[in-house]
Amino acid sequence: MRKKIVAGNWKMNKNVIEAQQLMLQILHYRKENPGNCAVWIAPPAMYLLLAKDLYSTQQVGIFAQDMSAYKSGAYTGEISAEMLESIGADGAIIGHSERRQYHNETDAQCNIKVKLALDHNLTPIYCNGETLEQRKAGDHLNVVKKQTEEALFTLSDEEIRKVVIAYEPVWAIGTGETATPEQAQEIHAHIRSLIAKKYGQKTADEVSILYGGSVKADNAQEIFSQPDIDGGLIGGAALNITDFSKIIEALDA
Ligand code: 13P
Repeated sequence: MRKKIVAGNWKMNKNVIEAQQLMLQILHYRKENPGNCAVWIAPPAMYLLLAKDLYSTQQVGIFAQDMSAYKSGAYTGEISAEMLESIGADGAIIGHSERRQYHNETDAQCNIKVKLALDHNLTPIYCNGETLEQRKAGDHLNVVKKQTEEALFTLSDEEIRKVVIAYEPVWAIGTGETATPEQAQEIHAHIRSLIAKKYGQKTADEVSILYGGSVKADNAQEIFSQPDIDGGLIGGAALNITDFSKIIEALDA
């Protein structure tokens, strides 16, 4: 059975006091409302150890927003998979569209990162999704196919089962414009069928595929009700406990 997950990507937001406050609010909420979906957060890297201290009993998963494609050495500013493993992080977001856009990250680099994460017992949340131009040109299925195949299809059957995929149409991120539940479902089913073709249906049915892009408290339930949508990767609405807890509630329901 695949996992249901609500993950919050905090991006480059919050000072340390604010970060600690939100971490504690999430912990408190989860203790009061222990539901059946997994709750993960991806705060800025410098707060990961703080999260690790607060979440010692593992009610909330702790993820980096990125990690290096290199193992170790002279790569100023980078954080390695081994470092994340050594602090007990649960995984890392890989290939977010903002990394692709502002840091020219490619599917080939994502492939290296995903493999490296798995080698260090980290769960990769691999992001894909088309731009507005690509969707307008009717290219969205092909774009997502290429991103999925190039970054993931060198993995073994056992490895791909450990990957979480996040479909995040670039045009829906931070814009307030959400993919309709039907648009999202179409791509999620497409991704699952690609995995099924390559690895078999049983494996495809084990892979959690999250939707990301302007998920809010008032649209979460409708999005999560789609058969191939296993949860969400949330940006803006993960930055305050009121909205984030409502989104968790929508998946727990
Ligand atoms: P928003 O929820 O702010 O649109 O961001 C989505 C996202 O990029 C999560 O990784």
